[in-house]
Amino acid sequence: MSLPNAEAVLNALRLVKDPDLHRDIVSLGFVKDVEVSPEGSVSFTVELTTPACPVREELQAQCESVVRDIPGVSEVQVTMTARVRERGPQAENLVPGVKQIIAVASGKGGVGKSTVTLNLAVALAQTGARVGILDADVYGPSIPLMTGTHAERPLTQDERIIPITRFGVSMMSLGYLLEDGQAVLWRGPMVAGTVKQLLSDVAWGNLDYLLVDLPPGTGDAPMSLAQLVPLTGVLLVTTPHNVAANIAGKAAGLFRRLNSPILGVVENMATYSCPTCGTVSRIFAGLRGDELAKQLQVPFLGSIPLDPGVGAAADQGLPSVVADPNSPQAQAFRQVAGDLARHVSIRSLASAETNPEFQTIEG
Ligand SMILES: Nc1ncnc2c1ncn2[C@@H]1O[C@H](COP(=O)(O)OP(=O)(O)OP(=O)(O)O)[C@@H](O)[C@H]1O
Ligand SMILES: [Mg+2]
Repeated sequence: MSLPNAEAVLNALRLVKDPDLHRDIVSLGFVKDVEVSPEGSVSFTVELTTPACPVREELQAQCESVVRDIPGVSEVQVTMTARVRERGPQAENLVPGVKQIIAVASGKGGVGKSTVTLNLAVALAQTGARVGILDADVYGPSIPLMTGTHAERPLTQDERIIPITRFGVSMMSLGYLLEDGQAVLWRGPMVAGTVKQLLSDVAWGNLDYLLVDLPPGTGDAPMSLAQLVPLTGVLLVTTPHNVAANIAGKAAGLFRRLNSPILGVVENMATYSCPTCGTVSRIFAGLRGDELAKQLQVPFLGSIPLDPGVGAAADQGLPSVVADPNSPQAQAFRQVAGDLARHVSIRSLASAETNPEFQTIEG
């Protein structure tokens, strides 16, 4: 019988999936120092992203079991360790001029991530901040349509793509790079590669805030993003439906495991103001955004009212803070943008105190 080798051990360990990250621990880079003795005794280390990993024991047991099943293996020794991945500047900083990267995520689709991303970005730009939007929804990029820029094609300079600018915001989206109606059949590594290119091959320049519009859920795009760059944090968008709140909670768990803090919760489409009598009513009875924030122990950043005008404005390529700046909705977006910026500042200050390296980007 042939003796087991390191490759066989790695192959077996590919069967072990991290339940939150939905990927196997080998491709996640968690497995280190595989050694196989001539007697068939196997040892290796599994390095998790946080010592507080709730599924540590479960993973260890699975690792032992799959390796023990390899023919010729007499003994298995797993060392479980953890290394919290740095949030500050890294050896290869893909976006060196960008100070804060804020991902906008949700569990459920259609809750208004893209609408919130765009309006917050424009509201921040209106305060004088340098702002960009990276449309990381590779499955259905919507920022180009929502800003009326879908017919534009970006120029390149020195082999880097120059973002499209509208409403004072620098934007990049796969939508600008594909032909109209062109669909892409995605596999996980392609998503990761595309998100990486949208970060590193684009001349973002110096930005105070880069907002990243994510596809819904906890798939490849959010995973890749959180692994490629140190995120300032994640803004969770939810609607007052229990399904949305429940999945938003799961998404929060994923980002925390990836060491991306949750900056806060924004509730969308919760209230409706009657145009004739002005009465404000809550339309849905599910878990409110403030209640979800409380459960997750993160700040509640505000509630964006439902406004039938939004869809119409978006269809004309206008965010509501531009189309109707005095509407209750536009005011709500400006309030949330301010609160978000506040929480980001508080966080960077706290990080700078504990990690002087964190603030090495000059602006
Ligand atoms: N507050 C609001 N009032 C009225 N309509 C809204 C509001 N927020 C979003 N919408 C509309 O709801 C629809 C979904 O919004 P949006 O595309 O922003 O969601 P999303 O979470 O990005 O969706 P996906 O998961 O598909 O990326 C759009 O038609 C948008 O115009
Ligand atoms: Mg979207």
